[in-house]
Amino acid sequence: MSLEGKVALVTGAARRVGRTISLALAAKGTRVAVHYRTSVADARRVAAAVKTLSGADADVFRADLGDPAAPAKLADAVSRRFGRIDILINSASLYEKAPFGDAAPEDWDRHMAVNARAPFFLAQACAPWLRRSGEGVVINIADWAGLRPYADYGPYCASKAALLCVNKALAKALAPTVRVNAILPGPVLAPEAMSEGDKRKMSEATLLKRLGSPEAVARACVFLAESADYTTGAELTVDGGRLIA
Ligand SMILES: NC(=O)c1ccc[n+]([C@@H]2O[C@H](COP(=O)([O-])OP(=O)(O)OC[C@H]3O[C@@H](n4cnc5c(N)ncnc54)[C@H](OP(=O)(O)O)[C@@H]3O)[C@@H](O)[C@H]2O)c1
Repeated sequence: MSLEGKVALVTGAARRVGRTISLALAAKGTRVAVHYRTSVADARRVAAAVKTLSGADADVFRADLGDPAAPAKLADAVSRRFGRIDILINSASLYEKAPFGDAAPEDWDRHMAVNARAPFFLAQACAPWLRRSGEGVVINIADWAGLRPYADYGPYCASKAALLCVNKALAKALAPTVRVNAILPGPVLAPEAMSEGDKRKMSEATLLKRLGSPEAVARACVFLAESADYTTGAELTVDGGRLIA
């Protein structure tokens, strides 16, 4: 489908991967609802960059997706502002270490709430708009580690595994009018505090022996939204081969 003039709601869009996805959509003329939780100044910069890049409209929307009421309120605010929602990109994510011996039920609940529950209910709240679009698209940004968990991040990995099931459940629930797919990034952008040594180890653990980039994930989003018109319920790895290494 043509992305020009469509409206995309991108969660976690103020910084890092979500920001890059927003700008890649803007380059196609897509209008962008830039969701953020705490990064208000960054979110405003992304909205300004969208407008500069393509002249497409953009605005910022705050929501704590750990709040069960947030998805409905967010979808309502975006649809009121733009009058439509064609694309939902669930990119916001909580990523916290929780080693097995120390992990608490609260760690579990917070990861599940933001990484799996919110994408499900955001899709539910956007569903009338996505269906009305006639070409609605949902893209869930998951993680290769949702299929093959690594140590010390059990609640995070389990939440991404849940998101992969949510992806398939939404593909069924929203068929035949809305396509729903997941992207499973590998190491595309290291956590800001990670040491150079750990970054090297992370690169070495991939088949391609290098880190990826947020742009690689953004290109996959554009492909799924624009070109993959016979693809739904799928899982696309963008991981340098990390999953099978
Ligand atoms: N970076 C990688 O190499 C990598 C690898 C595998 C998978 N992924 C996945 O790709 C996506 C983007 O990655 P990333 O590294 O850019 O993510 P990130 O920096 O860890 O988080 C993205 C945004 O999520 C938002 N967020 C966190 N908790 C939230 C909450 N309770 N409510 C609403 N928003 C919340 C934050 O927004 P504010 O800043 O506004 O608070 C944050 O900027 C994520 O789904 C991640 O799991 C990334």
